[in-house]
Amino acid sequence: MKITFLGHATFLIDNLIIDPFIKGNPQATTNLDDIKCKIICVTHAHEDHLGDTIELAKKNNATIVAIHEIAVYAEKQGVKSVGMNFGGPVDVEGYNIQMVPAWHSSDMGTACGFLITKDGKTIYHAGDTGLFSDMKLIGEEGIDVALLPIGGRYTMDIKQATKACKFLNPKTVIPMHYNSWDIIKADPKEFKPDCEVVVLKSGEDYEV
Ligand code: NI
Ligand code: MN
Repeated sequence: MKITFLGHATFLIDNLIIDPFIKGNPQATTNLDDIKCKIICVTHAHEDHLGDTIELAKKNNATIVAIHEIAVYAEKQGVKSVGMNFGGPVDVEGYNIQMVPAWHSSDMGTACGFLITKDGKTIYHAGDTGLFSDMKLIGEEGIDVALLPIGGRYTMDIKQATKACKFLNPKTVIPMHYNSWDIIKADPKEFKPDCEVVVLKSGEDYEV
């Protein structure tokens, strides 16, 4: 899978996008019109995550995968959706997608993270979350790449994300949700967990 960072918490994984926040994203280096996707996963209903989801879904005839309440909202906007909750995975367009907890708030339903598996590789997008010890359970699924927030204040900071890596035990971690605004400033060079750290600039990609 090719993981392309589009700034803040937005990642394109082949033709699945997570938290498409392009307009208004100070780190965005692409236009909404240039993004092609079949699936849109939404971790929670905050503007910097739900973002351009509905417009992008309509443009691409894409399916939204999200917690039940966001899925109902999407259907009301005329967009296809797969609603789910914390439990077993769903298979959509060749991706195995499992919803996992996140400690955060949301304007609809509950905030979550996702475990996304394809071609024998598993990517964990934590969403916005604080540190929680059940990350150990998520780690037991076997994580190749973890996408973790490090900006603090609304999410884990570097110290907490370093501890999260101990629980999650990923092969590789990519930091996110920092430096988009001054209020979540962090220096990724200070992020030194026991696993490999790959720092992507917006627009850069990583193959797993
Ligand atoms: Ni949030
Ligand atoms: Mn956020």
